[in-house]
Amino acid sequence: MAHATTKITPKVFIVSMFTAEGTAWYGLPEFNLLEQNIAVPGFSPLFPQAHCTLDGSICHLVTGEGEINAASTMAALVYSPIFNLTQTYFFVAGIGGISPKRGTLGSATFARFAVHVGLQYEFDAREKPADWPTGYVPQGSYAPNQYPLTLYGTEVYELNDDLRQAVIRMAQTATLLDDPLVQEYRANYASNPEFAPGAASPSVVACDTATSDTFWTGAVLAEAFENTTTLFTNGSAVYCTTQQEDNATLAVLLRGAVSELVDFARVIVMRTGSNFDRQYDGQTAVANRFAMPSAGFALSVQNILLAGLPVVTGIVSGWDATFREGVKPSHYVGDIYASLGGTPDFGPMSAK
Ligand SMILES: *[C@@H]1O[C@H](CO)[C@@H](O)[C@H](O)[C@H]1NC(C)=O
Ligand SMILES: *[C@@H]1O[C@H](CO)[C@@H](O)[C@H](O)[C@H]1NC(C)=O
Ligand SMILES: *[C@@H]1O[C@H](CO)[C@@H](O)[C@H](O)[C@H]1NC(C)=O
Ligand SMILES: *[C@@H]1O[C@H](CO)[C@@H](O)[C@H](O)[C@H]1NC(C)=O
Repeated sequence: MAHATTKITPKVFIVSMFTAEGTAWYGLPEFNLLEQNIAVPGFSPLFPQAHCTLDGSICHLVTGEGEINAASTMAALVYSPIFNLTQTYFFVAGIGGISPKRGTLGSATFARFAVHVGLQYEFDAREKPADWPTGYVPQGSYAPNQYPLTLYGTEVYELNDDLRQAVIRMAQTATLLDDPLVQEYRANYASNPEFAPGAASPSVVACDTATSDTFWTGAVLAEAFENTTTLFTNGSAVYCTTQQEDNATLAVLLRGAVSELVDFARVIVMRTGSNFDRQYDGQTAVANRFAMPSAGFALSVQNILLAGLPVVTGIVSGWDATFREGVKPSHYVGDIYASLGGTPDFGPMSAK
């Protein structure tokens, strides 16, 4: 155990959301995260400990699933006196839904934008006006696809693209796994040229992520949230993966950065595809959600480790040369309110 007055100062903190994502990182020859097991007040009752290597250079936690668990656990970490996180790289590494327009089951995606698409009014489809394409309406506005006039501040987080490109190069050194049952399923997407990435084999992709506690599924909602992603980021974000935590995690890290406890330019969000966000042509939305081979889930968990391990070891081995100093972003990073300074390239505070 570290001496009580010595803070653990990780180079990389891996963030998982549930058990299968977490155990992927245990039992490796490269490093042993179970050398230090540290109870952190405020962590989930299901996942009460942070786990670190003996030297504290690599740590890991499991937040629990959904926005509330992600925000609570990350806040407990950021304000914990046990850790010094000022130079730490936060590596959110989870599975997610994936758009067949961008990738496939087992693809590893790295995001520049995280968009909180769930933050909207919702009308049931049976009660919405017939000419609305969706029952989702941004808060403070009066129809789908109007820019939200009521902002909560968590709508959009923009991450460091220069760091993202550096870690994508590391991830691309990995050979991702594939699976025969998954190959068979994804072949159904080949009939629609727009879904060519969904029918191809898994790869490392630069594309963005959308958060909502509601696990949406099916072509209509996928298109509605694709539109929301475009709207909230002034067309910059590439809708690609879907998950239930990232904006909550990023909201906490952004507040931590305002207090100078963490560096928001050191956050990486990777999501591997575990299920398609929409059906293939001729299939129903319900069949897509419930008939997908569970091999897709297994593959996405295995590829977290395959794509993520070179990122973790790359940051640690490149610490003195590059990562202690940091990879400076060449563009705006932060939230819609410019809480960290600068001028956002999205939202009402952006220059036209
Ligand atoms: C945290 O770590 C940084 C970098 O090693 C160091 O400069 C700083 O003094 C540390 N802060 C605390 C409170 O230990
Ligand atoms: C959620 O976070 C993503 C980046 O991870 C950002 O692009 C997106 O704009 C955020 N959405 C909201 C609503 O905060
Ligand atoms: C998405 O936006 C496009 C272009 O504005 C529009 O034609 C379509 O109806 C929208 N779809 C949904 C589901 O909101
Ligand atoms: C982005 O969209 C918002 C809302 O329509 C607008 O206020 C802002 O000026 C736009 N920014 C850019 C860079 O187009």
